[in-house]
Amino acid sequence: MVRGEILQMLREEAGRYVSGEEASRRLNVSRTAIWKHIRALRQDGYDIEAHPRLGYRLCRAPDLLLPAEIKARLTTKKMGRAIAYFRRVESTNNEAKALAAAGCPEGQIVVAEEQSVGRGRLSRGWFSPFARGVWFTIVLRPPFSPQEAPKCTLLAAVAVCRAIRRATGVACGIKWPNDILYDGRKLVGILTEMSAEMDAINHIVIGIGINVNIGADDFPPELRGLATSLSLAAGRPFSRLELFLAVLAELERVYGQAVTDGFATVLDEWRGESVTLGRTVDVIGPGRRFSGKALDIDADGALLVQTDGGMERVLAGDVSIRTPERGAK
Ligand code: BTN
Repeated sequence: MVRGEILQMLREEAGRYVSGEEASRRLNVSRTAIWKHIRALRQDGYDIEAHPRLGYRLCRAPDLLLPAEIKARLTTKKMGRAIAYFRRVESTNNEAKALAAAGCPEGQIVVAEEQSVGRGRLSRGWFSPFARGVWFTIVLRPPFSPQEAPKCTLLAAVAVCRAIRRATGVACGIKWPNDILYDGRKLVGILTEMSAEMDAINHIVIGIGINVNIGADDFPPELRGLATSLSLAAGRPFSRLELFLAVLAELERVYGQAVTDGFATVLDEWRGESVTLGRTVDVIGPGRRFSGKALDIDADGALLVQTDGGMERVLAGDVSIRTPERGAK
């Protein structure tokens, strides 16, 4: 709390010094306490100059997704208002599930600079190196039936895709159901997990991994050619914080829309962002495998694929876009 206030004060002074005495008076804590907090902030990576006569001055904030940084710039009412932050954690989805089960508020986020056992769809892993991406999970408590849960995943993809375009200008697109691609390679993965009763959702956790500043050689060999990052796409690095704030704002907008008006608009937005529709796809579903042309998604968010034998409806499975037609947008 005091730490956040010290930061806020130093930020407001925009590079000018604040004396220990003034800080202590303004925040109503001792000068020793101010010094201890300054030391802790430095340990977090803040570059704060301490001058014996002039006091303290903020030179640079670290490139970390620290709660104080997020809170200082957050524009949302609900999404990201409660934050659990880890420098390193096994998986933000695991932490979010525990928090959700313990009754955390809707919009709670779990953010990590690094995941040691990042989890992907279909029991795969997720490469999550330190401070190179946005690795986080958000907890929702939607008033929908459990059958509607898959549409929350589509909703998240729409929000992230829009936020990326807004914050970075990178022309990404969504591969059904919720991978975000750039030039046919994966930029973002989304892993949704739900706890529900027969007729009501307890909570949904949506884990989102965005590859932001990862160089081509940083990816493990098995991912090269399959994965990419925003910095690779644009040829320059991006602020993870800016992007993260844009994602939270878009999530709030799209989710709000679904809760108030239903999913029709969200599904339309999804269609507009899709790189799957109109393409020839190979589908590996539970117990079946086929190819055809992806025509549309239906009101449940299922992919409709025209095959030689008729129309197939895909609700779960792995869809790949045929290589000659690859490319986002
Ligand atoms: C996929 O396989 O496409 C889904 C990847 C989801 C990765 C994110 S990173 C944050 C969150 N925590 C995890 O362990 N996984 C998700």
